[in-house]
Amino acid sequence: MDTFEEINVKGFVEEEIDPSLDLFDEIKKLKKEKNAVILAHYYQEPDIQDIADYIGDSLGLSQQAAKTDADIIVFAGVHFMAETAKILSPSKKVLLPDLKAGCSLADSCPPHLFKKFKEKYPDHLVITYVNCTAELKAMSDIVCTSSNAVGIVESLPKDQKIIFGPDKNLGAYVAKKTGRDLVLWNGACMVHEIFSREKITRLKERHPGAKLLAHPECEDVILQLADYIGSTTGILKYATNNPANEFIVATEAGILHQMQKENPDKTFIPAPPNNNCACNDCPHMKRNTLEKLYLCLKNGYPEVTVPMDIIEKAVKPIERMLEISAKLGL
Ligand code: 13P
Ligand code: SF4
Repeated sequence: MDTFEEINVKGFVEEEIDPSLDLFDEIKKLKKEKNAVILAHYYQEPDIQDIADYIGDSLGLSQQAAKTDADIIVFAGVHFMAETAKILSPSKKVLLPDLKAGCSLADSCPPHLFKKFKEKYPDHLVITYVNCTAELKAMSDIVCTSSNAVGIVESLPKDQKIIFGPDKNLGAYVAKKTGRDLVLWNGACMVHEIFSREKITRLKERHPGAKLLAHPECEDVILQLADYIGSTTGILKYATNNPANEFIVATEAGILHQMQKENPDKTFIPAPPNNNCACNDCPHMKRNTLEKLYLCLKNGYPEVTVPMDIIEKAVKPIERMLEISAKLGL
């Protein structure tokens, strides 16, 4: 088995697993034994989604992390999500199958640079998208997710000046929807910026009945073509409730698993990227595997920790988000 130092370098426990083990059964047993809960994002690989106790978007996952009575939260998602769970439930142990499951969007906003940016706008309220580090959340007034960003901005007085970070695409979408003039940080997600407007247009021509569903982390040129724009949960609900039979999906491809499961007779086509790679798979989300999840539950690490002074500051804007979301009925 690896030493802690080795885990820090690799990001996960590397241990041989008996090939005769049924990992689904083993994980279920360990969960019971350790009073653990598995929370998974829709971008996780299908096996992880199938073993999870709860699958959801960032808002749903935060709500679950705040109310669970488990002793251990195994977060099948990326680092900032596990940090949010730790901030909301500091007495619980939060495990991440691979500590190196990061996020290009969170990385696009280093806290020391954001601090300087914020200082240029002293009379502005700071709203940060949940896809950012705990340190950034600690510098914020309200956190938001893609499902409540518009509602949160609309809940504020019209003359309130606002900085929005780190996602410039979500920020531009919120500004357009609310008619507010937001000061945007110039960050973006590598997965949602890869879609090709030309290829999607051609695909729509070949599938005239298909609806284009897009995540607001996509660029405006893609969002302009969309029939529906929303979070992963929103996209899933729209596909289930809409009578169309074909859908082009402009977000990370992991969501297709639940879409297909809920709608076995409908066709889901991943939106094409502007080259021939499998770029609509998030390389960070896909670092987690069923094997790593099993090993982290068995060994009790890798664990995600957040310094107490950061927890104390970051919990306020997250709780504010949860309060506003509850008022908005989200
Ligand atoms: P949601 O699931 O909240 O829509 O977020 C998408 C995302 O990019 C998470 O990393
Ligand atoms: Fe980050 Fe984009 Fe991956 Fe989501 S899909 S975790 S925003 S890099």
